[in-house]
Parts: sequence; C-alpha cells; structure tokens
Amino acid sequence: MNQPALEGLRLNTPAYVTHARLIEWVAEMAALTEASEVYWCNGSEQEYQRLTEQLVAAGTLMKLNPELRPRSFLARSDPSDVARVEDRTFICSARKEDAGPTNNWVAPAEMRELLQTGPNALFKGAMRGRTMYVVPFSMGPLGSHIAHIGVELTDSPYVAVSMRTMTRMGRGALDVLGSHGEFVPCVHTVGAPLEPGQADVAWPCNKTKYIVHYPETREIWSYGSGYGGNALLGKKCFALRIASTMGRDQGWLAEHMLILGVTNPQGRKYHVAAAFPSACGKTNFSMLVPPEGYEGWKVTTIGDDIAWIKPHADGRLYAINPEAGYFGVAPGTNYHTNPNCMDSLKSDVIFTNVALTDDGDVWWEGMTEEPPAHLVDWQGRDWTPAIAKANAVDGKPRPAAHPNARFTVAATNNPVLDPQWDDPDGVAIDAFIFGGRRSTTVPLVTEARNWSEGIYMAATMGSETTAAAAGAQGVVRRDPFAMLPFAGYNMADYFQHWLDLGAKMQATGATLPRIYCVNWFRKGADGKFVWPGYGENMRVLDWMIRRIEGHAGGADNVFGISPRYEDLRWDGLAFTREQYASVIGIDRAAWQQELKLHAELFQQLAHHLPPELPATKARIEERLAA
Ligand code: GTP
Ligand code: SPV
Ligand code: MN
Repeated sequence: MNQPALEGLRLNTPAYVTHARLIEWVAEMAALTEASEVYWCNGSEQEYQRLTEQLVAAGTLMKLNPELRPRSFLARSDPSDVARVEDRTFICSARKEDAGPTNNWVAPAEMRELLQTGPNALFKGAMRGRTMYVVPFSMGPLGSHIAHIGVELTDSPYVAVSMRTMTRMGRGALDVLGSHGEFVPCVHTVGAPLEPGQADVAWPCNKTKYIVHYPETREIWSYGSGYGGNALLGKKCFALRIASTMGRDQGWLAEHMLILGVTNPQGRKYHVAAAFPSACGKTNFSMLVPPEGYEGWKVTTIGDDIAWIKPHADGRLYAINPEAGYFGVAPGTNYHTNPNCMDSLKSDVIFTNVALTDDGDVWWEGMTEEPPAHLVDWQGRDWTPAIAKANAVDGKPRPAAHPNARFTVAATNNPVLDPQWDDPDGVAIDAFIFGGRRSTTVPLVTEARNWSEGIYMAATMGSETTAAAAGAQGVVRRDPFAMLPFAGYNMADYFQHWLDLGAKMQATGATLPRIYCVNWFRKGADGKFVWPGYGENMRVLDWMIRRIEGHAGGADNVFGISPRYEDLRWDGLAFTREQYASVIGIDRAAWQQELKLHAELFQQLAHHLPPELPATKARIEERLAA
C-alpha cells in the first residue's frame, strides 16, 4: 500500500472528503494528540443514535423516561466543570494591544509552546486512548453568503452530538467547503488521556483549562473542559470571538444577540436584535408570548444567542442566526415565564446538570412552584426539600439543578420558530436593544436619540454577574454590548467599529436601526423585581415599534427618551403609576455614581477610545447637573 492510502486508512477519511489541507490537518492533529482512532461525523440521524447509545453505555448520558421525555437524555458534568471559564480564556493576537485590556493575552508563540510545541505541551498525547471526532459544521444556513465553515476535532462524543444539534453539522458542511474552501480549525480535548486498561469516567475533564483563540490565523484551541461555551467551539469561540475579528476586518458584526420577528395586528413585521449578557433573558425574549391585551400580535424566533449582521446594498443591516439549536438556561424556565421554551423541550433534548425525578423526567428550580418530594440532584445525590434546607448556603436551600444547568435542543423544536430563521439572506434589522441585569439605577427603557448615543448606552452597559460563568455572582460589572467575555479584539476598537459602520451607512443615506436600552430587573424595597417581565416585556417592545412607526410619545431623560406612563399600553395588566415610577425613574445621585463607573471603563479603555464616547458622557453630565 502506498503512503496516502495508508494514511487514508488510519484516518478513516471518507471518500467524499476532498479537501487536502483539511485531511492533512486532521492527520497532524491525530499525530499530536495520539488519538487512538479517528471518526468523521456525517451528521446523520443514525450516527446521532449510535453516538448517544454509546454515551449511555459509557454513563455520560442517562436515557430519560421515553413516555415523558421521548428521545431525551440527562448528562451530569463533573462538579468542577459547569460553566464558561473567563479567567482561562485567551485572545492570543500578535500584539497585546489588539486583545485589549479586557481580554487575557499571551503571545502566540508562548501559547503554542504551552499547548503544541513545548516539551510538556498539553495537547501532546492528550487524546491517548480516545477517539478523535472530526466535526465539520456550518455557522449559518448552508451556503449562505453570511455563513462560515468550521471543523472541530474533539475527543468528546458529548460535544460531537451537541454540535449536531447546535450547528448544521456533517456532510452538508463538507459539501459547502469543497476541496479548497476556507474553514476555521477548532481543536478540543477534555485533557484526560486514558492509559491502556484505565477505566474512563462519566465526564472526563482536566482541572487545567485553556480556551485559546488566535485571531490572526483564525484558530481555536480548547483544553480541559467539556462544558458549553468552553467546548462547543462553534458558539462563543468561533461565532463571537473569531467572527468578531472577521467582522472588524470585513465590515460586519458578530454579536451576542437574540433575533426576533414581531408582527402587529395590522400585519406589519419588524425584526429586532437584542444583546443581554449571559443568563439575562435572551432566550426568554426571543420566544415571548404576547400577554393579555395583545391579541393579534405575534413574536417569532430567529435566534436566541448570537447574530451575524451584514450591511446590504439596500442600505439595511441583515442578520442571520449562525446557530441551529439552543443551549439555554433551564432554571427559571416554566409555563409562565417561557411556555414556548417549555414546549420546545418536550422531546429530543439533552439536558445537562438538571435534577432527575423519580419517574425518569427532569426538574429544575422554578420549573414548578412546588418542588417534587424527592429528586436526584445534578450531582447524583438524593434531594428532598429537607435535605436542601439542611445544606443551605447563605440561607439559600441547596438547589437540585445547578444554576447554570442547560438544555440542548434543535431550533426546529420551537413552536414559534420564524419562517425566515433559515433564510440564507437573513432578516433586515429595525432596532437594536441592549439590556443588563440591574437591580437599581437603569430605567426600564430608553431610546437613544441618535446612533452615537446608542453606542454610548451599549458601551457603558453594566450587569450583575450570573452563573453562566465561573466566579462571583451578582456583582455589577461593565459588560459592553454584552460582549465583555466574547469580543475577540480590543474593546475600544470594537466601539469604533460600531461607530464607523453607522457613519458609513449614514453617508449612503441609509436609515439606521433605532437603539434602545432596557432593564427588566429593577428591584423594590422588598428585594423583589418590580417589573413583571417575561410576556409583559411586550409592552416595551410595542412602544419601540410604535416609536419606529412614528406614533408613540416619550419624554427626555438624561441619556435618551423614555415613555411616560401614558405612552405605554396597560390593558390587561394592573401596574400603577407609582410602580411605573419606580422602574422608569432616574435617581440623580445613583447616576452620578454610575457615571463614575463609566469613567473608570473609559480610563481602562483609553487607548483607541473613540472621542464620541467621552463627548456623549459630558453631555449627559451637563443634563444631570441642570
Ligand atoms: P445565555 O444563554 O447565557 O446567553 O443567556 P440568555 O440571555 O439566553 O438567558 P435566559 O433567557 O435563559 O435567561 C435566564 C434568566 O433570566 C432566568 O433566570 C430567567 O428567569 C431570567 N429572566 C428572563 N427574562 C426575564 C424577565 O423579563 N424578568 C426577570 N425578572 N427575569 C427574567
Ligand atoms: C453564555 O454564557 O452566554 C451562553 C452559554 O450562552 S455558553 O455556551 O456556555 O457560553
Ligand atoms: Mn450567550
């Protein structure tokens, strides 16, 4: 046998793979990681069945009761591997200033030595005893001019099956790639090689973790975690960090945004993209059910987490959802907060770190008002309300589901999936919304008076941290554009990119989307949310649409225009003027403090900070002083 044939045999490369550089890279990575086998995923239903059966046999997945939750599984991760690890995430650009002060940076050569080339390089032999899955995927509809191809090499079959749900994965992506197409190479290992005879564990991972991006060469290397955004590399690593740098270079945007369609009773349809930080309501808002008083309105989902947005020759911005599934937060989801999500989860779901009921179904905090009398918690331990109380931390009962427990489900399960969700041309955006989780200070909704005021709102957005990332929870931090953990380049340059895009479009006479700032999370003296939120957010969305149509009033506040009580529609909801005042009001002292935090951010980002931002700040300060 000649050499290429030998190679082909060892790598199990299917005959339909014609991309020489891809085959060569797979061979190199198999050699580096010493994977015991290579398997090319084709994305078929049979393959999914086979891999999930294999995962059940290995103890990684547990089959749920097929009557209650058909074709669905539960995975329990290692208790140390439950969320994104921001302090282990690196942007390895050639120059430190291109990563910017908000990203961890290591010089590319140094990082390569650590991961690939050094004497103790982490990827050397990292897949020993394991199969390397070759996972080709398209971010965006197959063949869309906005879409891009990636290939993830992973030693986690859980990642391989999750990628089938989350992306257009398999042979279709390879067909688009052809023999010479561009792809983003993504290498992932759980970092747990198996020595001969060594038994595997249900959730292999390593306490050392590296989530590494090389923006110039558009590569991703992920070591040590099997969870979510650390491991499903099409999502945060590619579709946000790498894609944001592609967008900077090519004049488009990769954003941490849901995309929804909203149709009014007159049949006019608008498209809105909204950036809320992790676990701050994107999935909820993207599937919103219009409340009482909003009969005849319809909200449909294009995407729940990521938007790729490109300017089009007609002067408008068109957005696609690069993903094909939802990796959404389970806790808090129920038939009141998000009925469409609950309906999406009826079958064909992989749940991770939720609790197991005695009849083989799932449960999480907030799913029902009363918890079941007995559960098995996310770590496989017995759970009862009494056990939860006995193990309370800071007075809070020990939860049965991890706070960052998630579901993985195909978009096609969503009963309100927008008919255009898979349209390769995307949908034209009419408004951008930015919203953090703030128990004080930030009003329910404000409309920016112009593009640069909107960019200011987005750039200075603060939010309380959530369980989506490892680390302290509930701490207010600046999360510009909800992109703090996801911008693949210097945040100040990213602000400039948004400003430039707006200026360029305006110069051609285009009408830019309006920009809004929202906050669903203001709390009262009793510590409870004042705004009812969820479906009731329709009232705010309705006001935005009526503003765009030119027939809704509002009043100036210090940094934009907010609706007066009478500018919102209240039919079907008892919400008093006093309650409204407590979610819309501007507290002068709180804003003086807030502006100090904006100043700190601007100081941190001083290098390359667009002068428009401090100029806008000065105008806000003047108004506040007046
Ligand atoms: P990622 O997937 O992490 O990017 O997050 P996401 O923005 O999609 O978060 P998701 O929609 O899953 O929000 C999860 C949390 O936000 C849950 O705790 C929800 O209960 C809460 N939430 C969502 N919408 C609202 C709202 O309108 N009001 C209040 N008070 N909470 C909300
Ligand atoms: C987020 O944290 O914003 C997520 C979940 O959407 S993960 O994919 O784990 O990053
Ligand atoms: Mn997200």
